[in-house]
Formats: sequence, C-alpha cells, structure tokens
Amino acid sequence: MSDLVKRYTSSVFFDKRLWQADIEGSLAHAEMLAAQGIIGQADHALIAQGLAQITQEIETGAFEWKLDLEDVHLNIEARLTQLVGDAGKRLHTGRSRNDQVATDVRLWLRGEIDQITNLMTDLQLALIGLAEKNVDVIMPGFTHLQVAQPVSFGHHMLAYVEMFSRDAERMQEIRRRVNRLPLGAAALAGTSYPLDRERVAITLGMLDAQGQPAVCQNSLDAVSDRDFAIEFTAAASLAMVHISRMSEELILWMSQNFGFIQIADRFTTGSSIMPQKKNPDVPELARGKTGRVVGHLMGLITLMKGQPLAYNKDNQEDKEPLFDTVDTLKDTLRIFAEMVGGQLDAQTGLRTGGISVKPEAMERAALRGYATATDLADYLVKKGQPFRDAHETVAHAVKAAIDHGVDLSELPLAVLQSFSAAIEKDVYECLSLRGSLNARNVLGGTAPVQVRAQIARHKIRLA
Ligand code: ARG
Repeated sequence: MSDLVKRYTSSVFFDKRLWQADIEGSLAHAEMLAAQGIIGQADHALIAQGLAQITQEIETGAFEWKLDLEDVHLNIEARLTQLVGDAGKRLHTGRSRNDQVATDVRLWLRGEIDQITNLMTDLQLALIGLAEKNVDVIMPGFTHLQVAQPVSFGHHMLAYVEMFSRDAERMQEIRRRVNRLPLGAAALAGTSYPLDRERVAITLGMLDAQGQPAVCQNSLDAVSDRDFAIEFTAAASLAMVHISRMSEELILWMSQNFGFIQIADRFTTGSSIMPQKKNPDVPELARGKTGRVVGHLMGLITLMKGQPLAYNKDNQEDKEPLFDTVDTLKDTLRIFAEMVGGQLDAQTGLRTGGISVKPEAMERAALRGYATATDLADYLVKKGQPFRDAHETVAHAVKAAIDHGVDLSELPLAVLQSFSAAIEKDVYECLSLRGSLNARNVLGGTAPVQVRAQIARHKIRLA
C-alpha cells in the first residue's frame, strides 16, 4: 500500500475515541466464546488480562496508536497479541471488523445519548428557573415579528422547555434502536461457529423494552445499517434548530432596539475596534453551528444512498460527522444551560448570573403595538356583537389611536363609545396588559395561573 493510500484509508486518528466500546465488545465476545467452548478458559483469561492492561495504557496515554494499523480495532488487537500471544489471535474468531465497528459505534452512541438527555434536562431546568422568576413579566408576543398580544415572559421560556422535552423524548426513542447487537453477523453472512449472540447482548446491556436481549436479526442489515446514526443526527439537528431559534431571539432581545434582556459578561465578547461593544457571540455561534450539524445530517444520509448491501468502506466516513455532531450538541447544551440559568454553586446549590430580564422595556414594547386590540374585540363579543363585526369596530378604534399617537387604553371613554355604544367604563380593565394576560386562562394559555401550573407540571416530570 502506498503511504498516501495508507493515510487515505486509515481512520485510527479519529476512531480511536471508540476504544472503550471496542474493549467492552471484545470482552463480551471473548467471554461468550469461552462459554460456548469455542476458545479455552485459559485463552479467555489471557484476553481479559491483556485488555485490562491495554485499558490502562490508553488511559495513561502510554498506548502507541499506529497509522499503519489502520483503525482502532486493529491497533488494539495487535497490541493484545503482542501482550498475550496466540490467545490474542483467537479473539477475532467468529467476528469481523464489520460487525465489530457497528457494535462499537452503537455502544459509544448509547452512552452519549444518555449524557445528551441529561444535558437536555439541565437546560430545561434552567429555562424553568428563569420562567419561574418571570411569570408576571409581560412582554409583547409576536407573529410576523409584529407585536401581536401580550404574553408572560415565563410562558415564552416554557415554549422552549416543550421543544427540549420533545428532543429528549426523541433521543430516548432513538436509543432503543441504537441499543441492538450486530456482533455475530460477522462479515455479512453470519458465522459457522456456534455463537450465543443473545448472551453477548445481555452482557452488553443491549435489551429491549421487555428486558429481552436485543439482537440485530439479519446479518446483512446488521453490518450495513447506519439508520441509527442518521436518525440520531436528525434528532440532534432538530435540537440545534431549537437552540438556533432561541439564539435568534436572544440576539434580537439583546440589541439596543429591543433591550429586553442582558446576558452575563462571561458569555459575551467585545470588539477590537469599538470599545463600547458587548456582542452575543455565544448565541450567534450556536446559530452558526446549527448549520454545521444539519450539514452532518446531509452528509450521513448522502453517504448511505448509493450503497449496495452489505458493508462498504464508505461507512468509515460515518464517524467524523457523528462525532462532531455529538461534540457540538453537548457543548452547546452545556453552555446554554449555564448562559440561561447561571452558574451552579456547588456549595449552595443555587445558580447565579443567568439571563437578566428588563421588565419595563418589555412592557413598554408591548404597549407600543396595540397588543390588547383582540381583548377589545373579545369585550364587544361578550356584549353581544358577532366577532367579525367586533373585529372591524376595533380596527377603527386602533386607527383613531394611531392618529392621536396614543394607546387604546389612553383613548377617552367618549371616543371609544363613538365606535360602539356597547362600550362602558369597565372596558379599561380589558385594555390593560395585565388584564389581557389574565384573561388567557385556558389550558396552555399565557395567564400567570396557567404558566405556574405548567411550571409545576414540568418540575414533577423532570424530578
Ligand atoms: N474502520 C472501519 C470502519 O470504520 C472498520 C471496518 C472495516 N472493515 C473492512 N472490511 N475494511 O468502518
């Protein structure tokens, strides 16, 4: 092989991160080989001993990774043979790198999914904490980025909690399909050795919802399936899209034109030329990195589309996009939990320095856009007007308010009554932001009592 081809085909410098899964899989395989009498107990003991030493070498950095040995699997196997001789050479009985690598990626990804789910919980808790502090803070809710109706800032935060809770749910659903055993498929056709695949699955904790061993049931599919990596990356992309939407809002809200929030200095940067600047680099980068993760999804799905069964070397290209997706998502979730909720003080268990909210600026903005116009229409409906007529009446009233440069609530009663005789003094209650908020007391609505109920529900769900 030419040096260039060696470098081109080798994957060890990125797939070495699978080493722990590789050793875990080998231990389970060797244990089963011995139990089935395919290798001797003495060989099994030597293999276990050798793999323990390799674990130590890798952990301490003493292990020498060699490009010449192509990938993580061959590097570990070669070292094992160096350490324990023929026993090491027996490990690969009834196994191929094709089912080995598929097993390793699944084992590794399973652990990562669990960490990601926990990080999603942290982020949800941070958002819930921020929501709880700001249930009664009123901000303009937008459609088309035009002021629409007043909403509770806490309610707005809980919208993201819903998204991240679905993301976590998706991760756990995908985990069920990740957590299945390819080993025993060998190269593609199965093997002539009497392997006990279910035993290996149990050893590796690859179980279905009923607690039964979860084994890939078709050897060709087992070595060539990367659906699990693709759907993981799709779920990761969606989680990043949620983070990206939130980022976009944080960036807008931080701008001088909105001035709704502050982000702790730790998460912002200055400018090399403009001394006054405080830039929201973290949300901007998260928005940018979303493109990168979505790109990995496109990469992986394109990687599969032309492959005939069964294993093809193309699949080695699944690693870098998958690894980078995991790294990017984990870092982003971690940093967002802290940016939103603040830094956790290990001593007190309290968080400090999260997003700080400017209620006056939000209320002022809500008052600028006739956000209670729908409430006036609803008021007229309660007085007996059909909704469509009320809608038109209020449109005239809003026009008059715009002409006078005032809010609806600032129009004198006589002026309001000129649009509808049904209007009485009590109209001013419904024209206030708080009155509007309190009125939306439907399940899932923005009334503070509903928002508090949702916070309580989320806390129970996440406990
Ligand atoms: N490094 C390879 C991969 O990541 C392992 C499997 C190689 N198998 C083979 N027959 N060349 O897919």
